[in-house]
Amino acid sequence: MRPEKLVIAMAMAMVGCACGAKARGPVSRTNSLALTPAPLYKPLTQVDFAIQIKPILQARCQPCHFSGGKVYDRMPFDRPETIRTLGTRLFTRIKDEKEQQLIRDFLAQH
Ligand code: HEC
Repeated sequence: MRPEKLVIAMAMAMVGCACGAKARGPVSRTNSLALTPAPLYKPLTQVDFAIQIKPILQARCQPCHFSGGKVYDRMPFDRPETIRTLGTRLFTRIKDEKEQQLIRDFLAQH
């Protein structure tokens, strides 16, 4: 009787052990997943001024804020610094929700 009980106890301990290992498995996988979105997150939300912001401004704010325009010397829109300085003041003239969001994302990343 005693050896049998011991075997059962050992079997239960092993099952328990296996469960513990299984439970730990996904947790550590979740942890490694939790680490991967961080480096992925930046490139996905990174807004490129020349590719994403400048074309909006070129389409709407030419000729005045671009080379040869009357306010180019004071407010050149082909420079990211100007956009960072003006910030959301641009939204008095850029009303499109998606364009505003792009500019907000751009402003947030610097
Ligand atoms: C027809 C020419 C012209 C166009 C097009 C133009 N601007 Fe301007 N903008 C000006 C002038 C001139 C000033 C300077 C006004 C002043 O300082 O009194 C100015 C000033 C500004 C200012 C600073 C003053 C303020 O209102 O806060 C912002 C911001 C601005 N423009 C944004 C834009 C944006 C964004 C666009 C495109 C969607 C645009 N402008 C298109 C001529 C223009």
